[in-house]
Amino acid sequence: MQIVTDPAAMQQLALTWRARGERIVLVPTMGYFHAGHLSLMEYGRTQGDHLVVSIFVNPTQFGPQEDLDRYPRDLDRDCELAAQQGVDLIFAPAAGQMYPPGYQTFVEVTEVTQGLCGVSRPTHFRGVATVVLKLFNLVQPQVAVFGEKDYQQLITIQRLVADLNVPVAVVGRPLVREADGLALSSRNVYLSPAERQAALKLSQALFRARDLAAQGERSRERLFAAITPLLQSEPRLRLDYLNLLDNQTLAELPTIQHTARLAIAAYVGQIRLIDNILLEVP
Ligand code: PAJ
Repeated sequence: MQIVTDPAAMQQLALTWRARGERIVLVPTMGYFHAGHLSLMEYGRTQGDHLVVSIFVNPTQFGPQEDLDRYPRDLDRDCELAAQQGVDLIFAPAAGQMYPPGYQTFVEVTEVTQGLCGVSRPTHFRGVATVVLKLFNLVQPQVAVFGEKDYQQLITIQRLVADLNVPVAVVGRPLVREADGLALSSRNVYLSPAERQAALKLSQALFRARDLAAQGERSRERLFAAITPLLQSEPRLRLDYLNLLDNQTLAELPTIQHTARLAIAAYVGQIRLIDNILLEVP
């Protein structure tokens, strides 16, 4: 497995592969791999000739009060895990190489980024869209793989490539959970045992809603009435949002026609966690 840090060298290599007609698959990440990341690599490996994983803790997607400095990092361990997944190349640039002095260009996806995480993180998706477009230009992938864990991010990237005619197929893959339901996240390492227990309420609430929808419940009001007591029963949990959305447009839904996305964000102590689930009414 090759490790490249220089953006120009990455792009040169990618263009060489493309000139030979080879297929490049990119899995963009911020590192500190868990089974969710590895599942994207496992899928990506089947989609082309070169599987590239980028590891870059992107400063432009963190707000001034957020955890950029504390974000967990372990490049050596990540490289070992990636090699085991059959990754061909790790692209791990430094922040100063991605945003050198004089940098001033940003991409904004204006609508799907407004609600949900966009409320508490107003500059987040601008940073995500910008870095992902940069990564696409550097790695030249035909296919890029993202997790449904960050559902609003996935929809934002799909909007970006459609609107700007970016020739990349953006694939969303299922959210990977711990055995007890907790959505895997690099930030879970910060949870104390008691906080981790409290965090389980998020997935429990989503599972309950999924079961009610599967039994025919379509009403947002009744679904929320059924699950908010569960969330409020946990004093360590502070709800940021709970919302029922169209699966593609993220428009808020008063009732479910066939499917919907139920999305939640909450603080457990200082840690902000997100989760979501597909609801299907038969
Ligand atoms: P990061 O949080 O490292 O996530 C990298 C990819 O892994 C994303 O596509 C994310 O949705 C996916 N992922 C995270 N947890 C997952 C889980 N439990 N199950 C399935 N997939 C999961 O998302 C980012 O980095 C950044 O915003 C990035 C896109 C790299 C841009 O900087």
